[in-house]
Amino acid sequence: MLTLTDKQAIRRSWELVTPIAETAADLFYQRLFELQPSYRKLFPPDMAPQKRKLLAMLAFIVKSVDWPDTAWKDAVDAEDDLLLVVLALGRRHGVLYRVPDDSYDVVGAALLWTLDMGLGEAFTAETRDAWTRVYGLLAKTMRMGRCARPEGSAPALQTRDA
Ligand code: HEM
Repeated sequence: MLTLTDKQAIRRSWELVTPIAETAADLFYQRLFELQPSYRKLFPPDMAPQKRKLLAMLAFIVKSVDWPDTAWKDAVDAEDDLLLVVLALGRRHGVLYRVPDDSYDVVGAALLWTLDMGLGEAFTAETRDAWTRVYGLLAKTMRMGRCARPEGSAPALQTRDA
């Protein structure tokens, strides 16, 4: 569960990321491919659309994490429902993009590294903890979405030209 402090830390840090979002996306993928060069081949040659989609998804997640408690009983359209969106995202990552299950740890490390680089002193221990928790919840939910696929277990790493 996320505490109120987590939610505030996520919201405030994202406000600081927004003006440098494109640089942050560049740094993130640079770091990811440094940590795990074999993942480059999972992505298309042109990374620009991917960077935009990742930033849009993160913005949506940050907004949803900040959902006011008073609104929990309200009806939400499927496309605005964080749980459904993240489950479906996880399913696409498993079935379409065939990302290895253990890649979530590397992606999480690249994300925290990017926030550290981008935010500097503003990336306090509290903010790191909050992002670690949010990412952990996302990764868990995405893996659950992946498990929903009929074939069951995760496939081995396959690249576009495999
Ligand atoms: C919280 C974790 C993650 C988030 C929020 C995220 C977000 C996204 C988004 C928004 C897309 C655009 C396409 C779509 O919506 O289906 C995408 C595509 C993709 N992601 Fe992720 N992702 C995450 C984890 C990962 C991990 C762990 C990997 C493993 C390397 C990965 C690799 C990819 C690949 C290969 C694509 C498809 C690119 C393409 O073919 O166009 N993602 N991701």
